[in-house]
Amino acid sequence: MQNVERTMVNQLRRHGFDMDVIEQTPTPFYCYDMNLLNRTIGRILQETAGAPYVVHYAIKANSNPHILSTIAHSGLGADVVSGGEIRVALNNGFKAENINFSGVAKTDWEIQLGLECGIGCFNVESSAELQVINDIAGKMGKTAPVAFRVNPDIDAHTHRFITTGTAANKFGIAMDELDSVIDLSQRMNHVKLLGLHFHIGSQITQMQPFVMLCDTINHMVERYNRLGIHFEHINVGGGLGIDYSSPDEHPFAPFRDYFDTFKKGLAPLHGMPIHFELGRAIVASCGTLISRVVYIKENKGKKFALIDAGMNDLIRPALYGAHHVIQNLTSNERACETYEVAGPVCESSDVFATDCHLPLTRRGDILAIRSAGAYGESMASCYNMRPLPACVCCPAPEN
Ligand code: LLP
Repeated sequence: MQNVERTMVNQLRRHGFDMDVIEQTPTPFYCYDMNLLNRTIGRILQETAGAPYVVHYAIKANSNPHILSTIAHSGLGADVVSGGEIRVALNNGFKAENINFSGVAKTDWEIQLGLECGIGCFNVESSAELQVINDIAGKMGKTAPVAFRVNPDIDAHTHRFITTGTAANKFGIAMDELDSVIDLSQRMNHVKLLGLHFHIGSQITQMQPFVMLCDTINHMVERYNRLGIHFEHINVGGGLGIDYSSPDEHPFAPFRDYFDTFKKGLAPLHGMPIHFELGRAIVASCGTLISRVVYIKENKGKKFALIDAGMNDLIRPALYGAHHVIQNLTSNERACETYEVAGPVCESSDVFATDCHLPLTRRGDILAIRSAGAYGESMASCYNMRPLPACVCCPAPEN
């Protein structure tokens, strides 16, 4: 191990990094702090203990098999959005009955696969989809368990690409169409209506949108109860955000506030099972993208640190302008410089940070791009014929 100050090493160890592994592994790669993942799951279990809450993990956030099997073995269910995710969930230890299948355009083979495996619930997004599910289930001699995804027209005040619950979005069934879709389902022979499903967006850091969601749910459930329609569960979706600016000070999402918001907000529902589908809040903090500086270059006074990770490895900054803290793990310099940290991909948007303050940085230094556990590895591509990023778990899995 060269170049690394003792204090820095200790700090890194606390956050699950093993510098020997980091220095010896070819970059770029994702490094997962499995202790932090386990502690995060522990907090969720603690905050939901005693409440009729069923937490599903939204697999799209990170479908790395080590992450999945850790989460599956902790007893959480899975939220999937494709046939591929159904398979990966089953292969990594999730039970079929604990899988909810969301997605706005489920294809026939995906519906068939879900029915064959006996998944817990299809979250249905249109009457057209309901019709297809009923037909396929009929042909297979099965009954499909369904919930209707409602578009509650609530603005989650997050990035427009990850807002899903307003009337302008493609997701869900409009509230004024729900009566007719429920009516339709009751005249079908091969679907069983279990509940209602909502998901208003992602990286939501204020509780207000969730408070509004609770009000909407209470009114809807009360109204349907009066009409003699009784749901078996309500699924409130996911969306809880994390603190991308202070990964070390706030490694956990505000789980207590979040679950308390629903405990208070949904009090009128008296013990009805509530499903959650959290992705980011479970896995974002435990992942770090590790990369090496390839060149330092200056253009008209502006310094660039060009690294070997690109937007194909982590697309969030390029796609959403997302901010991830970047640290130099190997520089001992006291003096700092401002760098644009950019990748090798032939796109001007392949930039991780424009005004990044780092200790003097040189070719060969190792940079850590933090809070990259959610929507990092799972959104990676081979653009520019680059290989998919590798991954390392700390500590390494036992098998
Ligand atoms: N349930 C449904 C139906 C969803 O569409 C999503 C995420 C989730 C649950 C989980 O949401 P979470 O708890 O992770 O916020 N790629 C974007 C995020 C896209 C979220 C898509 N849907 C990003 O990197 O910020």
